[in-house]
Amino acid sequence: MSTRFVTMLSAEQIATRVRELGAEITKEYAGRPLVLVCVLKGSFVFASDLMRAIDLPLRIDFLGTRSYGEGTQSSGVVQITQDLSKPIENEDVLIVEDIVDTGLTIAHLIDLLRTRQPRSVKVCSLLHKPARAKIAVKIDYLGFTIEDKFVVGYGLDFAEKYRNLPYIGLVEQT
Ligand code: IMP
Ligand code: MG
Repeated sequence: MSTRFVTMLSAEQIATRVRELGAEITKEYAGRPLVLVCVLKGSFVFASDLMRAIDLPLRIDFLGTRSYGEGTQSSGVVQITQDLSKPIENEDVLIVEDIVDTGLTIAHLIDLLRTRQPRSVKVCSLLHKPARAKIAVKIDYLGFTIEDKFVVGYGLDFAEKYRNLPYIGLVEQT
């Protein structure tokens, strides 16, 4: 069995959208300091490009989560595998996600971070699969809405593989 990929979003399309998102975020926070919370592992590629497209005094921190195991279905149970390195009290926080699928992960993270009394919590997600939403979440900054297909690359994995693809693709088992 061999694995092929069909490009859904090219590296160029992603880079263009990331620059636009960075400009929008830069404008809206208007010079205020920002904490980017990169949700590991899937968001590390997106977050590293996005932070370079934002012209604000920002710091980045990392939150490790696991919601899937080895399959492609969300278990609905979000496990924190690594916590933030510093408090976020009175700070403007922007959660950076690779994809909002059922919404369970991001809803849980918003609730968790709000208990720490930040000044604000917003969400920036590269991808959104509205067809699979189980809970309504507001995505303040969104890269692309995609159809209900399992995608990999640009940080997103299937059983920990393919995160290093420079584009976002569909997996085809042939
Ligand atoms: P949710 O809790 O169902 O919204 O799922 C969120 C997490 O599931 C994301 O942060 C991803 O890590 C993973 N995920 C959801 N859909 C995909 C996909 O199509 N490809 C790879 N990972 C996905
Ligand atoms: Mg993942």
